[in-house]
Amino acid sequence: ERIPQVEALLEKMTLEEKIGQLNLLTPGGGIATGSVVSEDVEAKIKAGNVGGVFGVSSPERVRQAQELAVKNSRLGIPLLIGSDVIHGYKTTFPIPLGLSSSWDMDLIRETAKVAAKEATADGINWNFSPMVDISRDPRWGRVAEGAGEDAYLGSQVARAMVQGYQQEDLSEPNTMIATVKHMALYGAPEGGRDYNRVDMSRTKMFNEYLPPYKAAVDAGVGSVMTSFNDIDGVPATGNKWLLTDLLRERWGFNGFVVSDYTSVNEMIAHGMGDLQDVSAMALKAGLDMDMVGEGFLTTLKKSVEEGKVSEEEITTAARRILEAKHKLGLLDDPYKYSDTSRPETDILTKENRDLARLAATQSFVLLKKKDNILPVSKKAKIALIGPLANNQSNMLGTWAPTGDFTLSVPVLEGFRNVAPSAKITYAKGANITNDTALAKKVNVFGSKVEISNESSEQLLQGALKVAKASDVVVAVIGEASEMSGEAASRSNIQIPESQKRLLRELVKTGKPIAVVLMSGRPLDISEEMEMPVSILQVWHPGVEAGNAIADVVFGYVNPSGKLTMSWPRNVGQVPVYYGERTTGRPAPTQEFEKFKSNYLDVKNSPLLPFGHGLSYTNFQYSEIKASKENLRSVDSLKISTTVTNTGKLEGQEVVQLYIHDKVRSITPPKKQLIDFKKISLAPGESKTVEFQVTVEDLKFYNSQLEHVAEPGEFEFFVGGTSDCEMQGSFTLTE
Ligand code: IFM
Repeated sequence: ERIPQVEALLEKMTLEEKIGQLNLLTPGGGIATGSVVSEDVEAKIKAGNVGGVFGVSSPERVRQAQELAVKNSRLGIPLLIGSDVIHGYKTTFPIPLGLSSSWDMDLIRETAKVAAKEATADGINWNFSPMVDISRDPRWGRVAEGAGEDAYLGSQVARAMVQGYQQEDLSEPNTMIATVKHMALYGAPEGGRDYNRVDMSRTKMFNEYLPPYKAAVDAGVGSVMTSFNDIDGVPATGNKWLLTDLLRERWGFNGFVVSDYTSVNEMIAHGMGDLQDVSAMALKAGLDMDMVGEGFLTTLKKSVEEGKVSEEEITTAARRILEAKHKLGLLDDPYKYSDTSRPETDILTKENRDLARLAATQSFVLLKKKDNILPVSKKAKIALIGPLANNQSNMLGTWAPTGDFTLSVPVLEGFRNVAPSAKITYAKGANITNDTALAKKVNVFGSKVEISNESSEQLLQGALKVAKASDVVVAVIGEASEMSGEAASRSNIQIPESQKRLLRELVKTGKPIAVVLMSGRPLDISEEMEMPVSILQVWHPGVEAGNAIADVVFGYVNPSGKLTMSWPRNVGQVPVYYGERTTGRPAPTQEFEKFKSNYLDVKNSPLLPFGHGLSYTNFQYSEIKASKENLRSVDSLKISTTVTNTGKLEGQEVVQLYIHDKVRSITPPKKQLIDFKKISLAPGESKTVEFQVTVEDLKFYNSQLEHVAEPGEFEFFVGGTSDCEMQGSFTLTE
């Protein structure tokens, strides 16, 4: 349906003005993630050559930017003001991989809502989030920004985030347009190397990688960002099948598509031609807005003149940008995000920080329990040790460009806040890494690896002295923020050797040790899992890091997170994920068998599976059953279980339901998550959890890419991890 206000504008616009709307620039206030930077932004805005900017914030600066457009350009069309608000704006929440580990969609939606409230208070009206790229490769640093390996869970998270950012009505001043990114398959680069090529069958795409993008589209996401990789040999930014046939025609997307940073220009390196060729190719494929590279701005007019693109194609793209501005209400009120009173009342409020603290506690995953080391008693003499134990620059995690790391709570401070009378002694113990070359590469965006003036030996001895004088050691170790994230792929995903050594030596003291592990990705912790320690995974927890960690370490909050990516036994197993499809020669046990699909030197199973996460209490599952044996396609059945808290503390459990389609026209996954529920149980309490299964839950894309459920037998599995046993089966009848 055409919008009269937009059509009236288009009527008045020259070809150059339409092309101007397709141009997205950054004046340099944000983070440049490519080699090209925008120049003469002010002059271009005044000339009507810019449709949006990013890297500009604060009501005052945004008003100035809008004034440049509104008061100076011929038609006075306001700008989209974009930003990467990935896990919170100023109130930084845990990294998205951590947030997804909460399996709590209301909480995730709420964090996005707060992020939108803060960002819009600071002038932003368009967000480059959520990132929903499925990834099964922990070498890829950007797994930190996504929701892990599973299409079903990833779709739930995608929907919750779009709903949180956009709410019901985008014209409300505290909502912003969300961008689902990176369309598509960006999380499956060969070798886990960022920006690398992707090659994948259509059935795998449709069943395992595309659902979260589609879920965002179905939730009404306003824009889509293309990815850097190619698909079927055609770069996503110029891929007509992807951006038009699939996104618009099959999925019915009616927002606008933006490129990633210079991804139009990068099609030259991909071998697609010169700047004019690739710009025309991108426009014709369905790209509407060109980020930073200015290929559209500088070549499209010539392409029209030479008959390579039509003015109609440019009008269509410009219409989509103007419609977005209309949805936001910008065409009527260009200054609606420039209310100078809002930052004070809306940003970094106590309420927002409380939510960040809660979200962080919910994202933590208890990977391993040893005796009763956790929770730690406040009466104990505590040795708080490790390079991340009193560190402020690595708490926010990657891609928190709008956050301020100086506001984050280090672990030591959090311990003192939560347990003011506890005896806590701190020692650094080791550098995050002793590799100065690595330190240099990751010392970006405020994240810091500081190599101490003290020698490794001095650091270690200092820590051992503190440990020996304590009742319990809490070792806070792991990755610096920017050891994961964009352009931060690792081929060795272990804890850096400097810290592994520290932990080995601490273990030798015989003291009880709780490891608080920070990282932006699954790590290979095979060695540490063998140690007599408890391990709490805290990701990069955000602005309230120290307080949240203290809440959980001292037992005020019982950890309940579950992994959303499998953790490998070694990097050679990668990709290892729970939903792998069957093979003709499966290994029947965990032991090696000749002529079966297994390794000589490592088990097939991951070290820690998807869905894994322990609690300070224990849960027992009983009475797992299906309400009937046959499901007709018009019907539903119930699968239920009773979960009992058999321990002494209140706790939360994520009850997971998986199926296995025993016979179908393309090889099925061995297990597939189709539902989950997070419940809370008092000590001794039991609850019955019921899942409604309909034929929709059994559907998959067949080799004709039709979404179908095929009759036959389905096994079901219920538990608190993907590594749960088969409990029964039912049959889908015609
Ligand atoms: O939004 C990001 C994207 O995820 C990676 N390249 C740069 C964009 C804008 O900052």
